[in-house]
Amino acid sequence: MTDPQPADESSALEPLVLVVDDEPELCRALGKLLTRNGFRVATAGDGEEALKVLRQEQVHLVLTDLIMPRMGGLDLLKAGKVISPETEFVIISGHGTIETAVDAMKLGAYDFVEKPFTTAITLKTVRQALERQRLQAENLELRRRLEEIEGTHDIIGRSDVMRQAMETARQVATSTATVLLTGESGTGKEVFADAIHGWSERRDKAMVKVSCAALPETLLEAELFGYEPGAFTGAVGQRVGRFESAHGGTLFLDEVGEMSLTTQVKLLRVLQEGVFERLGSNQEQTVDVRLLAATNADLAQRVERGDFREDLFYRLNVINVELPPLRARGEDVILLANFFLQLYAQKNDKELGGFTRQAVEALSRHSWPGNVRELENCIERCVVLSKGPFVDVDVLPPTVLAGKSRFEQVTIPVGTPLRQAEMQLIEATLRSTGGDKDTAARILGITARTIYRKLQ
Ligand SMILES: Nc1ncnc2c1ncn2[C@@H]1O[C@H](COP(=O)(O)OP(=O)(O)OP(=O)(O)O)[C@@H](O)[C@H]1O
Ligand SMILES: [Mg+2]
Repeated sequence: MTDPQPADESSALEPLVLVVDDEPELCRALGKLLTRNGFRVATAGDGEEALKVLRQEQVHLVLTDLIMPRMGGLDLLKAGKVISPETEFVIISGHGTIETAVDAMKLGAYDFVEKPFTTAITLKTVRQALERQRLQAENLELRRRLEEIEGTHDIIGRSDVMRQAMETARQVATSTATVLLTGESGTGKEVFADAIHGWSERRDKAMVKVSCAALPETLLEAELFGYEPGAFTGAVGQRVGRFESAHGGTLFLDEVGEMSLTTQVKLLRVLQEGVFERLGSNQEQTVDVRLLAATNADLAQRVERGDFREDLFYRLNVINVELPPLRARGEDVILLANFFLQLYAQKNDKELGGFTRQAVEALSRHSWPGNVRELENCIERCVVLSKGPFVDVDVLPPTVLAGKSRFEQVTIPVGTPLRQAEMQLIEATLRSTGGDKDTAARILGITARTIYRKLQ
């Protein structure tokens, strides 16, 4: 027994073939053949009539004669493809019209069958044309769905380590689990945070970002939880915190390792109970927020040292996505380099065909201590400086050319004033991080703010 199916629905699933010929006999014969083989059939006596059908019905395939009164097959094809681009066309060609049939294929017809045609060949051609159409429709649908899922999140990377990170990120995106993104500076933690939000069901809601390193304790708490007038010196008026702004969406806590222990306690409470109070208020606020956190510090080590609460660490680290440094990503260096080349060539309105072999070798040799950010800055510079048509070694920064590793040497003769020696070291460190002040600060054991100050 087969399941009962509504007749109209099952028949609507069969492809609709429109037979167009000015000889009614031929129309009838072809119609019969196709109906017997499971197709739905419509007929038309010339091109104009056929266009009417195309406007009204979803026709899968048009089987048309070339020479007809009023409107012939070629004009029907041209107009028909505009009205219904997905519809396939198969041309019936008589003696002396083969050339026109070939022209028709250039205009997008699938194939032609020659008169007098056999039923076998006609059926085969019709089936193949419909198969091509089905595949194209499927491809289109797949691409549409992929774009829907992936959005425009440009995460470039083909190496196994990156694929794994992307796979994990995609899997956890749809849950509300807290994700801790770890990895060196410039490895793409924020890119991944954006992607996770974009892949999640919260994608249409807010994505709020707060950097825990940029603000001193009170200001960070005010930023996160909001405040009432007079909550602290300078708190005039009322302010909604980032937790509230992120309600229904995602809150991204960047550099979470820099958070003070007091603020950590408050954060833990929101994570455990979903409640908090604005500074200077004792009214509890409830929020529905998905938390993503990032750090380039070794949090486990901070826990051991007592700088980071263990319970908070476990709360944040429900899922860990570890982003590998660029030097561990092999082929991704050139992939990313090409991606940035195109991006910045477009931005700068330049025509560049790619990198010379020597440039590729130098890029591959470099260890990229500043990771993707360093690479991106480097390629932007190349694009701006390059005279084309290819980016060559002459525009690569000296650090990259030397294939230098993380630390370059600084020679400071005795007698150098301390301030000057300090500047030399800071500048050299900045060079080796590709200008990334955060990483340089970390290497030097000072804060990024101190670097800014000293540079001024
Ligand atoms: N896989 C990637 N594909 C394309 N661009 C990337 C990728 N990873 C990083 N980038 C680019 O590199 C730069 C640095 O990335 P991002 O800001 O996400 O790094 P981060 O890990 O948050 O660094 P930090 O710890 O210093 O904040 C950005 O301009 C980003 O667009
Ligand atoms: Mg970041």
